[in-house]
Amino acid sequence: LDDLLSEGVRGRRVLVRADLNVPLDGEKITDDGRVRASLPTIRKLTEAGAQVVLTAHLGRPKGEPDPQFSLAPVARRLGELLGADVPLAGDLVGDSAKSVVAGLTDGSVALLENVRFDARETSKDDAERGALADELAALVGPGAAFVSDGFGVVHRKQASVYDVAERLPAYAGGLVLAEVEVLRTLTGDPKRPYAVVLGGSKVSDKLGVIKALLPKVDKLLIGGGMAYTFLAAQGHGVGTSLLQADQIESTKQLLAEHGDKLVLPVDVVVADRFAADAEHRVVAADEIPDGWMGLDIGPRSVELFAGILRGSATVFWNGPAGVFEFPAFADGTRGVAQAIVDSDSFSVVGGGDSAAAVRTLGLPEDGFSHISTGGGASLEYLEGKDLPGVAVLEGER
Ligand code: 3PG
Repeated sequence: LDDLLSEGVRGRRVLVRADLNVPLDGEKITDDGRVRASLPTIRKLTEAGAQVVLTAHLGRPKGEPDPQFSLAPVARRLGELLGADVPLAGDLVGDSAKSVVAGLTDGSVALLENVRFDARETSKDDAERGALADELAALVGPGAAFVSDGFGVVHRKQASVYDVAERLPAYAGGLVLAEVEVLRTLTGDPKRPYAVVLGGSKVSDKLGVIKALLPKVDKLLIGGGMAYTFLAAQGHGVGTSLLQADQIESTKQLLAEHGDKLVLPVDVVVADRFAADAEHRVVAADEIPDGWMGLDIGPRSVELFAGILRGSATVFWNGPAGVFEFPAFADGTRGVAQAIVDSDSFSVVGGGDSAAAVRTLGLPEDGFSHISTGGGASLEYLEGKDLPGVAVLEGER
């Protein structure tokens, strides 16, 4: 971004890919963290006089316009935060987009409608994605530049993330640079002890990153729904808790090879059903009664996890420890997060859900060294996978 700014952008159109994929309750944004994280790059460009055209996705629409996935609430929030109107084009590269882009003045910002309303955005076919990228490049016209600042999507080989960067002079935005720098610290030579806490529902989603992390970390703490597959792999009954039966064998193997590093809950909060007002109680992790489901880690587990986290010099946390959206099952996640805040560690929160948990539970954001905007992207980076949206920028050098 600084390279682009030093070239001068006054009067120049700059297409910015941001990650504005925020959680919504109807039209209400329940966590605007990603919108706020996109502001510094936008402001730098507008202050330098650029005409900023933002492109972003929301949710996973089926490749056609769908009002429930409109970016309208995001355009409104952006306008409030920037203190200036942010017009939303009614389409992506059509007449509405053309007229909104033509109306931009120096230092102003417009947002294009959800890029995933066009099926070519996520197509596996290079030519289809390329055709959309051509149209995006034509929309901003000759002399335009592209800034990739949607860290949360850099692991997606999609038209507005990857292909467009091959068609316009492309630059990394401040957010992408900052995120990659932090994650590089974790994959490089992190200060020890290094502890990772992983939650989330599916072992299958996290198996790759667990395997990649185990040789590098001192402790790997398991919470969330996937803890029950680990408990089942140890031979315990898990009642009606989330269970990936097809993952038990690979989980057993992990436990056999790395049992010294893996830390599992010792007690859990079980409920009679999946509901905020479910009947619930704390039981030992190896005594989950039939017909009950674990929805959070219990207080002894929080103490166990907190002790390890407080003594760690580096911590990475991805995935809530329980169903924190229901207050009765939020204590585990709150306890884990609080222990990280209380530690003197270099701490990184990775992921939409865990970042949202920090804010929803009222924890101080500045209690963490870095709160990543990318869940899947940060996990894929830690797993050692190539991030297409970053690789394409590195190819520019
Ligand atoms: C996210 O929410 O992790 C990013 O916005 C990417 O969204 P996706 O998983 O739908 O590609």
